[in-house]
Amino acid sequence: MCAALTDLIGKASLFGELEPQELEALARAAERQEFQRDEVVFAAHERADSFYVIASGRVKVCVSSAGGKELILATLGPGQFFGEMALLDDATRSASVVAQLATVAYCIRRGDFERLLEQHSGIARKLLRELSLRLRRSNAQMESLATLDVVGRLARYFIDLAKQHGQILGNGWVAVRRPTHQDIANSIGTSRETVTRLMNDLEQRGLVVNEGKMSYLKESVLSEAAD
Ligand code: CMP
Repeated sequence: MCAALTDLIGKASLFGELEPQELEALARAAERQEFQRDEVVFAAHERADSFYVIASGRVKVCVSSAGGKELILATLGPGQFFGEMALLDDATRSASVVAQLATVAYCIRRGDFERLLEQHSGIARKLLRELSLRLRRSNAQMESLATLDVVGRLARYFIDLAKQHGQILGNGWVAVRRPTHQDIANSIGTSRETVTRLMNDLEQRGLVVNEGKMSYLKESVLSEAAD
């Protein structure tokens, strides 16, 4: 059991520099948690004392307006982490995190997280690098919301989704589990009805093929799209 756990945590590039014994210790301190699809991991503004690493599945990071309108800031998948911000700035949760698919995550308590950062400058550096990447993505999302029309935003959304969470099939296509039309709408600032209508448009332009729960994008489209 412990070997499987260390293997899982070890797959998160954040912990790549840890020695096997250190990984074992971390794995012993981590608590495995399972979340059903749509289950709330934690809500915005809650007090925080834990950090999470995703083993499988996918979560969405979102904020809601007083009227209940949701904006999805990011989606995170296997090997990625969340919950670091409230531990780093000692404030409440900056956003809600909700399972977008059935998800398994390992929960690491504040004390263990802080010890890791103090004792391993490489982990701190990787964390900063990832925070920088997330800021870049947020900037790109703001730019997209402010400057692109809704068709452009939807196209950009699928390209980013496939780059971040896609699985290369080896035949020139990338497969990605498609979020609900409502989640797509909440990521690009439009309505579910508009997403449903525009998905056809993307398919007609040959950008996306939808089959069942999956969407497929051509690898060439991804490599042409600037980061
Ligand atoms: P925390 O504030 O503890 O709880 C919510 C978490 O969502 C936060 O830590 C980050 O891990 C994550 N998060 C918040 N904003 C973003 C964003 N713009 N992009 C990616 N992840 C985010």
